[in-house]
Amino acid sequence: MDVALKIWRYDSRTGERKLEEFEVDAPEWACLLDVLDIIKDKHDGTLAYRKSCRMMICGSCGMRMDGRAVLACKERMQPIAEAGHVPVISAMGNLPIVKDLVVDMGPFWNKIRSVKPWLDPGYDEVTEKERIVSQQQMNAIQKESLCIMCGCCVSECNSMEADPAFLGPAALAKGFRFVGDPREGNQVERLVAYNDEHGIWDCTRCYFCNERCPKGVDPRDAIAKLGAESIEQGIDHDMGAKHAKWFVTSAKTTGWLRETELVPKTQGILSAVKQTGFALGLARKGKVPPPFPPHVADRVKEARALHDLVGQQGRGGADGIIQMERALARAEHGEAEGAHRVSPEVTPGVQPPVAEG
Ligand code: SF4
Ligand code: SF4
Ligand code: FES
Repeated sequence: MDVALKIWRYDSRTGERKLEEFEVDAPEWACLLDVLDIIKDKHDGTLAYRKSCRMMICGSCGMRMDGRAVLACKERMQPIAEAGHVPVISAMGNLPIVKDLVVDMGPFWNKIRSVKPWLDPGYDEVTEKERIVSQQQMNAIQKESLCIMCGCCVSECNSMEADPAFLGPAALAKGFRFVGDPREGNQVERLVAYNDEHGIWDCTRCYFCNERCPKGVDPRDAIAKLGAESIEQGIDHDMGAKHAKWFVTSAKTTGWLRETELVPKTQGILSAVKQTGFALGLARKGKVPPPFPPHVADRVKEARALHDLVGQQGRGGADGIIQMERALARAEHGEAEGAHRVSPEVTPGVQPPVAEG
């Protein structure tokens, strides 16, 4: 079959950046990585990209196709070629580009290292037999254990784009893999560290990491679990935690978000007073509902019953975050794994190379 690709070439030494188009003859079973191999082998040996396993397990071949992060060895080219689409291939986002499709993974690994990606067992004594962890206990961290460190989630993270110091979805998913492990002995210390500046509460909940993870890790869910577990352990000093807690209180008491009280409950009285002028401006425009009496939903009992039910089921902390909902949603919407969805053509300047350093 004939396959055409446009590839953003980049050389960090010269800063030169150009979009090049290639058209190659590829077998029908070819994936994006196969097509890149053909280009490198027969058309332009200077094309740079990473690969290793060719079977979606090493995490080397992360790149962007039409502006969304993919594993090149996972993307089948036949439906794209048959649709007559010419995809635009570029390097992953949020990481400095070294050459063409190769990014510097240094910042990625630094963040993984910073969450202590190893088990810190809560026991010293050596036993004669292995310590058995039940299937149910392992299920709690099953998704997070699937991560292959490809960086696709980091590439699409909005929060990291705004704040490169944000720990990010891959590192935090790795963090939950150990927080949720029953053999881990330092859960609380870990949670305190992940609650720090640039930690879990800086996530904007855009869900792009869940959307783009090729292995179903659903890192945003892992961050939600870390947040729920932190609150369960009383680690709630961050404004993000206070914000989340007020949502729960609001829903339970009125069935609505008690927005007027959100700022004082989240940021404190002093900050709320400082924003009085802004609040009065909003009130004059009719944007602030009267705080008293609070508006209570007609069927608020349902919200309260739901709250009580979760409590009765003992689903506090991470257990309250539903597992596999993304996977179920994908199945319900008939979106088969690996199915191609054509995204809008990426135009020059949309993905500027990240400055090195
Ligand atoms: S949900 Fe949070 S961690 Fe995931 S991509 Fe969005 S901002 Fe980043
Ligand atoms: S969480 Fe998913 S997208 Fe992110 S590094 Fe791991 S496997 Fe890749
Ligand atoms: S080459 Fe290993 S994941 Fe693609």
